[in-house]
Amino acid sequence: MRIEVSHPLIVKSLLWPDETATQRFAAALASAPALRNAFVELQGELGSGKTTLVRYLLRALGLPGRVKSPTYAVVEPYELTDLQLNVWHFDFYRFSDPREWEDAGFRDIFASKGLKLAEWPQKAVGFLPRADLIIELEAVSEASRQVGLTAQTAVGLALLQAVSRDPSAPALPVSQDPAEQQP
Ligand SMILES: Nc1ncnc2c1ncn2[C@@H]1O[C@H](COP(=O)(O)OP(=O)(O)O)[C@@H](O)[C@H]1O
Ligand SMILES: [Mg+2]
Repeated sequence: MRIEVSHPLIVKSLLWPDETATQRFAAALASAPALRNAFVELQGELGSGKTTLVRYLLRALGLPGRVKSPTYAVVEPYELTDLQLNVWHFDFYRFSDPREWEDAGFRDIFASKGLKLAEWPQKAVGFLPRADLIIELEAVSEASRQVGLTAQTAVGLALLQAVSRDPSAPALPVSQDPAEQQP
């Protein structure tokens, strides 16, 4: 697969021909140790598959039960006790009151360890920290999605590597995770 390097961002594009490909991507992402402390932005129009990807990802991480769309709550928190991992799924579509950032504890969430996933991050520009990975989805047809991946940090790069890896190849030892080589 070709990886274009445009320093300091690493950009890559994929095509998911169907929802199974989306699910496979989610599973590969879930296998990345760097996901334990990462911020991933999901961009794309309504219906492009942002929530669907989050659902597959949470499933792949072992979450039992239903994954709600957080549209009305802005954030849906999950605690994956087996993995000792906290996940926050944001949907900023209805985010408009800057006071909510403090009052609802969003600042604290972004300062905490865990996985933060955000739909409609453009509605909270100025509040959100720099994302490690941006996933941009575009519906090409009923079932296929054009996907743009942009790694903006070492953590993002580790995630990109996890989803680029040949699924039949053994996973890299955690010590080789580039995110860990950061000073
Ligand atoms: N390859 C695909 N990846 C993700 N979703 C897909 C795909 N093909 C079809 N879909 C469907 O597209 C819809 C995406 O909706 P949703 O995930 O709620 O979008 P968003 O959160 O971006 O508004 C779902 O009904 C999903 O089943
Ligand atoms: Mg959604």
